[in-house]
Amino acid sequence: MCGIFGYVGESRNIAPEILDALRALEYRGYDSWGIAVPDGPNILVQKKIGKIAGSVADLPPATRGFGHTRWATHGGVTAENAHPHLDCSETIAIIHNGIIENFRSLRSELADRGHNFRSETDSEVVAHLIEEQILEGCSLLTATRNAFARLHGLNAVIVMCADRDELVATKTMSPLVIGLGQRGWATIASDQVALYGFADDVHFLEDDEIARIAAGELAVFDRDTLSAKSLELVPLPLDDRDLDLNGHSHYMSKEMAEQPEVLERLAEQGEASIRELAREIENSYGTFLTGCGTASYAALTGSYLFSRIASRHVNFVVGSEFKYHEHFLRENSLVLALSQSGETADILEAMRAARARGSRIGAIVNTRNSTLDRMADLSVHLMAGPEQCVLSTKAYTAKVAVLLMTAYTLAGRFSEGRELVYRAAEGMRAMLAPAWVGDIRATAERVQHADHMFVIGRGLSYPTALEAALKIKEVSYVHAEGFAGGELKHGVIALVTDGTPCVVYAPNDETRADIISGAMELKSRGGFMIGIGCENDPVFDIFLKTPDAGDASPIIQALPAQMLGYHLALLRGYDPDKPRNLAKSVTVK
Ligand code: AGP
Repeated sequence: MCGIFGYVGESRNIAPEILDALRALEYRGYDSWGIAVPDGPNILVQKKIGKIAGSVADLPPATRGFGHTRWATHGGVTAENAHPHLDCSETIAIIHNGIIENFRSLRSELADRGHNFRSETDSEVVAHLIEEQILEGCSLLTATRNAFARLHGLNAVIVMCADRDELVATKTMSPLVIGLGQRGWATIASDQVALYGFADDVHFLEDDEIARIAAGELAVFDRDTLSAKSLELVPLPLDDRDLDLNGHSHYMSKEMAEQPEVLERLAEQGEASIRELAREIENSYGTFLTGCGTASYAALTGSYLFSRIASRHVNFVVGSEFKYHEHFLRENSLVLALSQSGETADILEAMRAARARGSRIGAIVNTRNSTLDRMADLSVHLMAGPEQCVLSTKAYTAKVAVLLMTAYTLAGRFSEGRELVYRAAEGMRAMLAPAWVGDIRATAERVQHADHMFVIGRGLSYPTALEAALKIKEVSYVHAEGFAGGELKHGVIALVTDGTPCVVYAPNDETRADIISGAMELKSRGGFMIGIGCENDPVFDIFLKTPDAGDASPIIQALPAQMLGYHLALLRGYDPDKPRNLAKSVTVK
């Protein structure tokens, strides 16, 4: 999703540093970028389509400036539609993240009053709304507040004027964090990663706040009354190792390799918050697990684990559909949201709905101080470290590990669950060894030209099959579909022809016999069978052996698909860290 960075401080050649901060936000996914700095009476803007490249050294030194990476929602991928956007007088510049749902009516209203629009975007209306407020003599703070009040939807806006040494920013449900660093540098960003090296302490903007960022000074106000509010400064929780590739060629391979360590840290340090979560589930009138994309598959796995281990029914609802299900929520219902970023708009909207119905909110989240983490009544932190690759890997297996240990806690057997997580960590370490990686690489070479692929699993392995297909799809662009093994005969098998790669999860559990006969059916229609499990079977053309981790098998089974996707992407010439059209944190609905 769009990345935002802004700076106010001593006058210096800030443009190249803004570009570096935007590079730190590249992982969020984008298609164009731009920078603005004041230059005398006007504001100079440079914007380009495509990846950040080249130099901005020709922009003059300045005491402030901001930059933006765009993930197009309204208007094509063009330099005009990239941000920042200017008002008619080119003395006011804005950058925006989100979707202005009523932009059409605002645009025609402004055009009727003579404003000229240069772009097709929803965002540009903000620059012209503020222009009118400034012309009425408002301060930048008041002008921004008044303009923002006209916008519908989830939005974050930062504004800069040519004649005022400050930035003003506000937001609804789209993340913004402001920071203060040495030498009085005041900065703002859509993600704390971009403030690394600029700020020591940060304040996460709340939805009812508006901020004024000036040299050596951060101030927040209540957006309605503009009365001053106190800053909640916390240290910036990041260090070198988090953002470094540590010798890996991609963040995806680094983060896959970190999984054993992440699992062991959770097993060692997660007990207290997992026990608290189990108590909350015990006391709730129904628990509802929700998440989007990969997080939804972890949640679905959770619903299987709770039934299987704790004989407890928990509901699963996919995040973007939650609002159509919320009617059954009660005061003491518990809604448990799973999210790596803690900023996914559909999940935040679902939590707002749950809050409005008086329900309790629990979070299984990786990013501390994210909007979800701050919103939740209780959080279980994944402690997986920043996940830079758009594809979620270590956060997925960490989520499943938390749900597994929680299910065992509900069954009064926490230590057994913890032992299984240690076993999964050990098993993963074995699968990260060169020999095993070589087998995956050879499998990828064998199917690299396929356009379609099917992944099947039963029981606990069904959500794993869905996650596996997503990993392969989003990084290699092979059209992989995940299915419940028993659903094949009800339609899908019609798509299987000679050589169609079919990945089959065949663990040593109650699903094995049925899934093997499902594999036989695919084979008899010409399917090329890739088996994943502890024990081979003649039906498989390729077999990838995984250690047996019992109920923790969904953790272990995630790695083969992550790796297959990774190597398919490399073989097909794609960048595993920045898949096309995807964003790391989806902050628009
Ligand atoms: C996963 O690889 C994708 N990046 C995507 O499906 C992701 O899981 C989804 O957008 C949810 O993100 P979250 O965990 O940050 O809420």
